[in-house]
Amino acid sequence: MTKRFISLLLAASMILALALCGCSSSSKETERKKRKSKKTEKTKVTETIDDDDDDDDDKKSTKKDKDKDKGKDKDKDKKDGKQRVGISLPTNDLFRWDADGENLKKTLEAEGYTVDLQYANNDVSAQVAQLESMISAGADVLVVAPIDGYSLGTVLEQARDANIPVIAYDRLIYNTDAVTYYASFDNYMVGTVQGEYIRDSLELDDKNGPFHIEIFAGEPGDYNAKTFYQGAMDVLKPYIDSGKLVVVSGQTDFDTVATVGWKTELAQNRMDALLSSFYSDGTQLDAVLCSNDSTALGVENSLAAFYVGNYPVITGQDCDIANVKNIIAGNQSMSVFKDTRDLVIQTTEMCKAILEGKDVPINDNTTHDNGVKVVPSFLCRPIFVTADNYKEILIDSGYYTEDQLS
Ligand code: BGC
Repeated sequence: MTKRFISLLLAASMILALALCGCSSSSKETERKKRKSKKTEKTKVTETIDDDDDDDDDKKSTKKDKDKDKGKDKDKDKKDGKQRVGISLPTNDLFRWDADGENLKKTLEAEGYTVDLQYANNDVSAQVAQLESMISAGADVLVVAPIDGYSLGTVLEQARDANIPVIAYDRLIYNTDAVTYYASFDNYMVGTVQGEYIRDSLELDDKNGPFHIEIFAGEPGDYNAKTFYQGAMDVLKPYIDSGKLVVVSGQTDFDTVATVGWKTELAQNRMDALLSSFYSDGTQLDAVLCSNDSTALGVENSLAAFYVGNYPVITGQDCDIANVKNIIAGNQSMSVFKDTRDLVIQTTEMCKAILEGKDVPINDNTTHDNGVKVVPSFLCRPIFVTADNYKEILIDSGYYTEDQLS
């Protein structure tokens, strides 16, 4: 009986041991399963992330493809179905660019185009960024007045690669084949008109002189500035060489007389310095060649503060409102008027012809070599405005109202 009891006890404890063992192995299994499933989850998460990466890659390659296809079927993603013109202008600080921009926008919109007009605050990198965004937004044509005509080659290559024609507006763009057309004024003539005005006002061909003159040119990176200067100097240099016209400061070469950014205050500072160094002893100043109105304004501010002699002949360009007021008041002699309404009409005609695949109107196919190609151009004619003709040219033609000039 005791033996039987002992063997029963042994059997029972074996069953218990086996049961415990089985339990522990099943919990291990559960643990293993749990770990496995966690690992699987982790793998899934990782895979999901990888999938996202793939999505990104897909997105990237889609974008790349889109970029590549830009220019082929640009119209597809246009909500309004209209063709787009991107306009990039240097600044809206000067009246002239403000007027150019407003006018271009109005005229192009009236032709049924969507217009993206941007001003770059005279900051080259801002202009590059604005152009990049116009290109990726699917512009069909770009109208660009560069801040620095030598700094847009790289961004305009993107335009060329996307088959977007580029019209250099008012200022030529250099060292790139990505410029398609150039719309401007005859800028050399702007300079000769200024030089001839000084020659005729001082009667250099009839009087002996000597007459005293100072020279103010524009922004060194703006090729127009060199062209205006060259045109004026080609008229005046013979009189300077003969001694009839004397640059009292001796400052004549372009780099010395250039005005960075065409800034009024820089022209004013330089005139202040010239007056105090060369004219404070009562030396008469007979003429100041100023390439445009913003530089002329600086010279006029300086003269008003520090000059007491007979008021000199002063040239300008653009017929900005402040300068026309000075012309009326006798503080500026003339301004070359570039009727930007003509330029806007010509530029709009160019855009239309390009977008409709028609012959683009040009009137000069030889003059404007940008270092890589001769850019087909349309050049408008400048005329000059004085106190005698401003009413007829500026008011009667509707460019300004009488109120704006009073
Ligand atoms: C334009 C002038 C203007 C100057 C300053 C030149 O490129 O041709 O009309 O006065 O820039 O903005």
